[in-house]
Amino acid sequence: MEIKAFAKRVLLSETLEEKLKNIDLPITDESPGSALIVDEPGRPDDLKFAAPRKAPAMPKPSSFQEAHCLATAHHIMANHELQALEIMARVLLAFPETPTEFRQGMISIMHDEQRHTQLHANISATLGIPFGQLPVNCYIWKKSSVFENILDYLACLPLLFEGCNLDHTLEFENYFSDVDATQSAKIMRTIHNDEIRHVAFGWHWLNELKPPELSMWDAWVSHLKWPLRPSKAAGDNFNLQPRLEAGMTREFIERLQQAIENDEEIGPQT
Ligand SMILES: [Fe+2]
Ligand SMILES: [Fe+2]
Repeated sequence: MEIKAFAKRVLLSETLEEKLKNIDLPITDESPGSALIVDEPGRPDDLKFAAPRKAPAMPKPSSFQEAHCLATAHHIMANHELQALEIMARVLLAFPETPTEFRQGMISIMHDEQRHTQLHANISATLGIPFGQLPVNCYIWKKSSVFENILDYLACLPLLFEGCNLDHTLEFENYFSDVDATQSAKIMRTIHNDEIRHVAFGWHWLNELKPPELSMWDAWVSHLKWPLRPSKAAGDNFNLQPRLEAGMTREFIERLQQAIENDEEIGPQT
């Protein structure tokens, strides 16, 4: 199956089943074609993006002993995973000139994102809320509409959102463990381990594709679009180890921690 055909199926299909269907092996990239710009992903009616402020907010961790709140958390995270998957498809279609090795790597990450979406959707349904029963937002998808090149993508999705998720996955693993939601906690650890590879992929390709005279820090920061900024690439509890495992240098991590501290002094700016 051609990468382009797979990306189109993920992005434009209007059933979840089709969007989460695995690529048919072998994967080829013989005709990436010309750039295809897609403004909105195809989705089933019950997963179409809701109007602003209609989607539920993430419930407080103290409420997770209630099945309804736990299911809501998984429902929200299933939509995060689905948006990540759709953005990757959007990028493959919008920037067909990227190296085949990069595009092949994206396919393997998309396979993980399909699995993550399914894991959250399944457990949300088991807990009483089938995926699509609650309104869903488009926060992450919207951030991808300003990508002008592949470096914008690498700065935003793998190095900011997935970087932040290195912390969030562990925070939620703890919240779920605290209320003995063992299965939920296990899912978060699985996603955490995959996320380390996803951040490593972003790190590797930013290093490969950035102008050689730019440092990794300067390349990353120069491709973040406000209000996204370095301090947004971390959760409430900063974890050093997964960032080292993803290949980030200690120097880069120190600058990141510095940016978080400085941002806190300035106060919220969004
Ligand atoms: Fe994921
Ligand atoms: Fe990921």
